[in-house]
Amino acid sequence: MSDSSRSPRIVVLPGDGIGPEIVAAAIRLLDAVGDFEYDERLIGGVSIDELGTPLSDDALAACRRSDAVLLGAVGGPKWDTTDPAAPRPEQGLLGLRKGLGLYANLRPVKPLAALIDASPLRRDRIEGTDLLVVRELTGGIYFGRKDRSPDSAVDECVYTTAEIERIAVAAFEAAERRAGGGGGGVTSVDKANVLETSRLWREVVTGLADRYPAVALDHLLVDNAAMQLVADPSRFDVVVTENMFGDILSDEAAMISGSIGLLPSASLGAGSNGLYEPVHGSAPDIAGEGVANPLATFLSVAMLLRHGLDRGADAERVEDAVEGALGDGLRTADLHTGGDGERLVGTDEMTAAVIAAL
Ligand code: IPM
Ligand code: MG
Repeated sequence: MSDSSRSPRIVVLPGDGIGPEIVAAAIRLLDAVGDFEYDERLIGGVSIDELGTPLSDDALAACRRSDAVLLGAVGGPKWDTTDPAAPRPEQGLLGLRKGLGLYANLRPVKPLAALIDASPLRRDRIEGTDLLVVRELTGGIYFGRKDRSPDSAVDECVYTTAEIERIAVAAFEAAERRAGGGGGGVTSVDKANVLETSRLWREVVTGLADRYPAVALDHLLVDNAAMQLVADPSRFDVVVTENMFGDILSDEAAMISGSIGLLPSASLGAGSNGLYEPVHGSAPDIAGEGVANPLATFLSVAMLLRHGLDRGADAERVEDAVEGALGDGLRTADLHTGGDGERLVGTDEMTAAVIAAL
């Protein structure tokens, strides 16, 4: 929590591709919500270009001192390489998550009423969906030992009991919170029929369930979970899973909301106010054209206000304003279906409309 005698300090990390455009739009929005100080730093490809590293010690230190961190996106074809020795933009993001201890990644998925028909899934399939993916973010195959020889490669997947416990607690608590103090459900997703880490995962999650008697716990294998997510998404409440499964399932779940351009995320850990970023990537193909959808970043700003700065009422204002602009028919290209009452707009116009709706 921030000291109320000064404006909260937000480190902004625009990054690559459309990152700078959507973060600039988010700052316009934040300025309309309240008084904030911004501290802008480099991350990703632009940081490689300027500083030779995707995440400088200086940028990480600034994030540690901040009240919250807002990130755009990292990566792009310019830095795409399979050379294991070359720095990659994504290492900046992973280093930040690890460096700040952000082990819990929250990715809410709830189709907005105005956009139900923009989803590639049928209305009757997705109506009523309101789920939260709780993805473990600092362990597993992403952070295990890596090795490479001329004709083989290794990515090790390790999970400790403590790592599983703390993410499971985050999921159970989220389920309680979402149900207003009691009830709710947690679906734990693993591959316990094959993977040893998954068997430990299942044991630890099951062992914690007694502490949350009001929360219903069930387990799904990840392949089945992938199917259920599109077949019957409204059956899910909180989905808790390990790092890579969560990466994949959250992109899949994003399509329920019509576009990945709508999905926000919060990455939280003990002793940090968190990192907030849209789930979509840097979209280099449309960078600089002024057409990027800023709404996932705006909804990430709402999460920043709620989880990072304890300003829940402001968070709701932002979420309502996003719904308002969509309700008025404004659509960025990724959301535009050509339907009645829709109006195709760019980043600027969408931003102005959301600010006007505040
Ligand atoms: C995400 C992204 C990242 C991830 C990449 C950019 C490293 O896909 O946040 O989902 O895999 O975690
Ligand atoms: Mg991903």
